[in-house]
Amino acid sequence: MSEVRKEILIAKTDIDKRVRELADMISRDYEGKDLILIGILKGAFVFMADLMRYLRIPCQVDFVRLASYGTGTMSTGNITISKDIETSIQGRDVLVVEDILDTGLTLSSLVERLKKKDPRSLKVCVFLDKKDRRKVPFEAEYVGFDIPDRFVVGYGLDFNEMYRFLPDVCVIGEN
Ligand code: XMP
Ligand code: MG
Repeated sequence: MSEVRKEILIAKTDIDKRVRELADMISRDYEGKDLILIGILKGAFVFMADLMRYLRIPCQVDFVRLASYGTGTMSTGNITISKDIETSIQGRDVLVVEDILDTGLTLSSLVERLKKKDPRSLKVCVFLDKKDRRKVPFEAEYVGFDIPDRFVVGYGLDFNEMYRFLPDVCVIGEN
């Protein structure tokens, strides 16, 4: 098996700066609101943990776990919920937090599903956005970084469950 090459795409210092900026925007926009962050497991857990600690407003958290991506690098669009939220979001201000927006299939179907639970507001915050890859129209209200169509790992993102622990966002390729 050939060695895997890792190249830093976004360094941890830039990540930290951008996450603080996002948290500032969210803190302003949600001041006095009843904010609940809904993280999409597993990829979003690192980003969401950092983001919430930079918020200057109170929030609650919950998580969903979807089974859509399998273990490879291609999105299938078949969204099944393997762990649903455990909190009522009726009448609440919901911010869905996701690691990466790619084809848009995952988030568009999750957002439709959550809207049926009658939240007061529902917005989406993604750490990374691969805008060129959309298969369905979808825009997130808060975006950390726009990135090109490369498969990335680190800062919670994985390849076959590896590399989530990396502090930088890296592109992997085989030598
Ligand atoms: P869609 O295509 O539905 O997919 O917008 C979003 C999900 O796809 C995964 N994804 C990636 N995961 N590196 C990853 O580790 C990537 O470059 C990448 N691109 C998409 C991710 O799980 C996200 O939730
Ligand atoms: Mg993944």
